[in-house]
Amino acid sequence: MKILAIESSCDETAAAVVEDGRKILSNVINTQVEEHKIYGGVVPEIASRRHIENISGVVREALDQSGCTWDTLDALAVTYAPGLIGALIVGVNYAKGLSYSTGLPLIPVHHLRGHIASNYLSSPDLEPPFLCLVVSGGHTVIAEVRGYTDFHILATTRDDAAGEALDKAARSLGLPYPGGLNLDRMCGGADAGDFKFTYPRLGDGVLDFSFSGLKTKIINTIHNLQQRGEEIPVRQLGASFMDCVASYLTDHVADAARRFGYSRIALAGGVSANSVLRRKMQELCQKNSWQLYLPDRAFCGDNAAMIASQGYYEHLSGARAGIDLNAYATMPLDRLQDEKMIYSQ
Ligand code: KG4
Ligand code: ZN
Repeated sequence: MKILAIESSCDETAAAVVEDGRKILSNVINTQVEEHKIYGGVVPEIASRRHIENISGVVREALDQSGCTWDTLDALAVTYAPGLIGALIVGVNYAKGLSYSTGLPLIPVHHLRGHIASNYLSSPDLEPPFLCLVVSGGHTVIAEVRGYTDFHILATTRDDAAGEALDKAARSLGLPYPGGLNLDRMCGGADAGDFKFTYPRLGDGVLDFSFSGLKTKIINTIHNLQQRGEEIPVRQLGASFMDCVASYLTDHVADAARRFGYSRIALAGGVSANSVLRRKMQELCQKNSWQLYLPDRAFCGDNAAMIASQGYYEHLSGARAGIDLNAYATMPLDRLQDEKMIYSQ
């Protein structure tokens, strides 16, 4: 079954064709990163405007590269939540137009479920159940993937996401957007020196995260150094901050795996490209003889191949969008906000 998917939840306009959830026939990504760079972060209105300009060309390219025609496709999939609402609406509306004009069924896909599915593209043998740490710019979740469309959340963040904290730390250190990526490039192999950040404990046995205190801590550390007229040791500070965030995530995944009996663990989302996090997770899994699944770096960030992959499994479970499908800025991973509407035809 060949599915063409569209992804436009943030600053990437993407379209891809994937066969049976695993075989990529095309994967086109138009990133707006250079344009948002001058503002130090994504400007939602600019993102929406670029999506509306680029989406036709990106979809056409994905279709052409796949060797398919509208007649040889079986379905369409689209990210409908969560994300920047104006950005999501562009993709959702375009997909609905395509579905209406081609007669192809439309499958609504949750963005984070898509990130989890990026593992199916990189690891052909991976099947649920497994435990997955989803770390992106807006979300930090430890989820039990009980089935392809059956999720149970074990932990979330009480405030900022891991990616948000890394982005803010990078910005405070004077590194350009996208912060997390540049922090990794600049400080990934650096020595943390004497700086030591410690992560908060929210209580005995609590798996949830909190990143806002850590974010404040690095900003205050930088201010104090500046007030004393000292040079900012960017590489050391960055390395030590990343080490702390990666240990925080890894330790909680270890707790969750032990408590809920998982020995197969996957990472997903933009932050799963982080070299320190990948290394720590590899060490953890090796030590415990657990199986680790890492998405290829090419599939960690936003792309439509992962949406097509998850779309395949959503299709098998019966998910269909009606012509009244809406977009949502927030939506829990394990529950659909308005199931009747999403599944109405
Ligand atoms: O999944 P994603 O591409 O978009 C969202 O759905 O949010 O994740 C973006 C996040 C940003 O915070 C970005 O800085 C971070 O992923 N990121 C990284 C790396 N590459 C991207 N963070 C740490 N290390 C990286 N190598
Ligand atoms: Zn994402």
